[in-house]
Amino acid sequence: MMNDKDKRKELLREIKDEVINLKESPLYEERTKNKVFPVIGEGSHYAKVMFIGEAPGKNEAATGRPFCGAAGKVLDDLLSSVSLARSDVYVTNIVKDRPSLNRDPSPGEIEMYAPFLDRQIVIIKPKVIATLGRFSMEYIMKKFGLSSQLKPISQIHGHVFKAEADYGMVKILPLYHPAVALYNNSELETLKKDFKSLGDTISQ
Ligand code: URA
Repeated sequence: MMNDKDKRKELLREIKDEVINLKESPLYEERTKNKVFPVIGEGSHYAKVMFIGEAPGKNEAATGRPFCGAAGKVLDDLLSSVSLARSDVYVTNIVKDRPSLNRDPSPGEIEMYAPFLDRQIVIIKPKVIATLGRFSMEYIMKKFGLSSQLKPISQIHGHVFKAEADYGMVKILPLYHPAVALYNNSELETLKKDFKSLGDTISQ
């Protein structure tokens, strides 16, 4: 019988294979035409913290790795401010293929890719889900029955919401998207503060 480590690896590999072959996605044709990659996710399969962004950008689609461009550098700095490395956490997105010209993902694209994210959550069983930006915040809060507490991200970033997952209690922490910090210094400061609450939440 397969041990838990191999089982998780295998289940995540199945997700990867399915996304690679997701011909029914409106983003599939563009991916193949541009010879770029889907971005499934990266990090520890036992991560206590899962970060969920929006969708891959140009660098991510070129490499198949999440948050490897300028926003990723911000994320790395924020992680190290709370003594975390990428290899301690799991980083993924709701939408696994790049919407062209960095446009926002459409509701249909979110609907098409969200079941893969749902499965990643069940496999990895994070204790804390930190959403990056409003798309993943909205999706995750609704998914975990927190619709009544959903407010604009400017009002609820850095707040911890408790929810019940199939595998036990999970804390949801909405954060601004690291890309906003590239253009706005005050939002970088906000993100730094919110990462402190992430550090506190993890150690509780
Ligand atoms: N922005 C995202 O939301 N995800 C990435 O992987 C990169 C940039």
